[in-house]
Amino acid sequence: MENFPLIFVLLCSVLVFAHGFSRNLPILSFDEGYSQLFGDDNLIVLKDGKSVHLSLDERTGSGFVSQDLYLHGFFSASIKLPADYTAGVVVAFYMSNGDIFEKNHDEIDFEFLGNIRGKEWRIQTNIYGNESTKVGREERYGLWFDPTENFHQYSILWTNTHIIFYVDDIAIREIKRTESMGGDFPSKPMTLYATIWDASEWATNGGKYKVNYKYAPYIAEFSNFVLHGCTVDPVDLTSLKCEDTSSASSITTGISPSQRAKMESFRKKHMQYSYCYDKIRYKTPPSECVINPKEAERLKKFDPVTFGGGRGHHHARKRHRQSQAVAI
Ligand SMILES: *[C@@H]1O[C@H](CO)[C@@H](O)[C@H](O)[C@H]1NC(C)=O
Repeated sequence: MENFPLIFVLLCSVLVFAHGFSRNLPILSFDEGYSQLFGDDNLIVLKDGKSVHLSLDERTGSGFVSQDLYLHGFFSASIKLPADYTAGVVVAFYMSNGDIFEKNHDEIDFEFLGNIRGKEWRIQTNIYGNESTKVGREERYGLWFDPTENFHQYSILWTNTHIIFYVDDIAIREIKRTESMGGDFPSKPMTLYATIWDASEWATNGGKYKVNYKYAPYIAEFSNFVLHGCTVDPVDLTSLKCEDTSSASSITTGISPSQRAKMESFRKKHMQYSYCYDKIRYKTPPSECVINPKEAERLKKFDPVTFGGGRGHHHARKRHRQSQAVAI
């Protein structure tokens, strides 16, 4: 009976966890869904086969990529970010097809921007469609928890009509496809990526604070991989194989009224930047923006933000790998 409290704690965490996965989607092992992208032994698959550590040190960052290409679906991972001093460090969980469509790529991004000690990580979301890299659609947020303390689930829902970003069960952003967006809405098959890398030039206060390797290695932990959607044949991009989504109603029905209320409340409290209110970048906000004067007023007080090269994550990663090759 000595073990009883431990078992009880374990059971509770399983229940809490299952609740986080109310979508009821299968969780893949790393080898079932992903392959290493770069970083040698800075990528470690843990014994359970379902968790991965990605680390950044003075030699290299690291990353992995989904084995399949997807057109639409629900994509998710639980992530725990490195603690303490993380200025200049970027952890990214994103979809891209820059390897296939070099001149007209699409992207859907979750980016975690490190910070100096005592200041919190921030999250950035963004999309590109058909190489729309002249129009960054970034938003930035704080979180209601410390993302270095526990695992939290970060998810992307991508359909033909909308894209929703989730943190745990909270939808934090919805992008509806509008006619005027044209090709700017991601619409070609993409793979999923997770990376950690040195973005000293821009990640923290526009490059003011660099990565300090005294605190390396920086380790981001990943688990609970969900890749649930339509896979696409890489040779014949029109050939789709879709998983049954009937058990996952959120995929087909989108956002419920109660989820929407939570989203609005999150955005009111935690959104720190939205491209729609950035008058320096956009004299006229991009067509899909719905301007809320109260929000505009509130977002005024945040510092201007510098963005990652303005050419998308794919290019940032490529640059990063090139500079590594030179360093080695
Ligand atoms: C994507 O961009 C190319 C130009 O690079 C253009 O010809 C094409 O029509 C665009 N596609 C969409 C769907 O807007």
